Amino acid sequence: MTEYPPEPFRIKMTEPIKRIDRHEREIALRNAGYNLFGLKSEDVFVDLLTDSGTGAMSQAQWAALMQADESYAGASSFFRLSRAIETIFGFNHFVPTHQGRAAENILSSLLIKPGLYVPSNMHFDTTEANIRARGGLPVNLVIEEAFQPQNQHPFKGNMDLAKLRDFVKKIDPRNIAFGMITITNNAGGGQPVSMENLRAVAAIYREFEIPFFIDACRYAENAYFIKLREPGYAHKSPLEIAREIFSLADGATMSGKKDALANIGGFLAMNDETLYRAACNELILREGFPTYGGLAGRDLDAMAVGLMEALDESYLAYRLAQTAYVTEKLIETGIPVIEPPAGHAVYVDAGLFLPHIPPHEFPALSLAIELYLEGGVRGVEVGSVMFSREEASGKSTHPRLQLLRLAIPRRVYTQAHLDHVIKSLASIFRRRENLRGYRITYAPEFLRHFTAQFEPL
Ligand code: F0G
Repeated sequence: MTEYPPEPFRIKMTEPIKRIDRHEREIALRNAGYNLFGLKSEDVFVDLLTDSGTGAMSQAQWAALMQADESYAGASSFFRLSRAIETIFGFNHFVPTHQGRAAENILSSLLIKPGLYVPSNMHFDTTEANIRARGGLPVNLVIEEAFQPQNQHPFKGNMDLAKLRDFVKKIDPRNIAFGMITITNNAGGGQPVSMENLRAVAAIYREFEIPFFIDACRYAENAYFIKLREPGYAHKSPLEIAREIFSLADGATMSGKKDALANIGGFLAMNDETLYRAACNELILREGFPTYGGLAGRDLDAMAVGLMEALDESYLAYRLAQTAYVTEKLIETGIPVIEPPAGHAVYVDAGLFLPHIPPHEFPALSLAIELYLEGGVRGVEVGSVMFSREEASGKSTHPRLQLLRLAIPRRVYTQAHLDHVIKSLASIFRRRENLRGYRITYAPEFLRHFTAQFEPL
């Protein structure tokens, strides 16, 4: 059993939250079209919708905000961010962006032509959508163990190397725009990728002259998993491990809202000078001048400090133990979850939890809705609402796992909040046969989970 360590901080400022009663929650849910994204946050008690931009900043970050430089061009905030990125990532160039998907958009706009492929372990929803929006074809080549929730493989985010090599040969490397890997693998249970795998993936991409970009959102958590789980890394610092990871790639997309511990921000980093020039042009058109990229100077400073804080070992030990605590308590209760524990979130296997609800009736959505009704807890469906696709034939393909993700915001909730979540899920588990599926009444073409509407069956 992972020990829940005392938080390596104390709380200096509070934000009140309240739990509205069940009847009010039912009304709020109906008004939201049964989509938890449609709720007002004040109607949520414990908000585990995402770990993105929802973390608490440190006193050092707030202090950095006050010293930020809001100059349009050449702001000192930019150079402080530049130093942090140089220290951790080591790429030759970067452009700030307002968040991760803006970096994905710029990369996709520059490198993808219709019909080109982009392999990865698993693309997250915004990456996949940005690739498709440019006519590209995202391909997921994660190892088979990723689809076996109880399999204890320590690096279930790893790419299947044989599959990658076969794919590159079959498709012809000229038809691949660039290669990616997501650390940690958010769409596949937040599982980490090993250094050994990263090295092998980089070697394959290099052999076939395919540019290699890392989706680095949760780079610090992945680095700490390598320290804890991979032989040879126990004595290395998370910073040394992060540097080694990024030395393998040609660039990275980053959302500052995750492991930069900021509420907004991101960047696109690369070694290639020509690509950097093109990225600057695209940036000026859509985001802003290359020394601010659509952000305020204070956002750049918050990221500069947060990127380094995320590598602090006492923070990382607490962070991963918090997730492990919830995961292990749920396992004790008999609730099916993805094992071993992930970094930023707990993933409940809703397909197993609710075997009587088929994928096209959205079991993970049903569980997410019930958890809100039960305890005012908001999670997110990562299943057929998010990832099923209509083929040209009219047939739907469903993802292999129907997951309810409970993402834990950084430095925000205490053990008592997490115990409330565990208790609420346990209570639903005892009466799980009564839950029913949902049907879609409205859905847009891309990223439908954000705005779709549903009704209970
Ligand atoms: N890549 C991964 C792996 C992500 O998890 C996210 C965001 C992005 C890219 C895009 O970054 O939000 O700054 O534009 N994930 C959030 C989540 C939204 O809830 O998992 P963004």
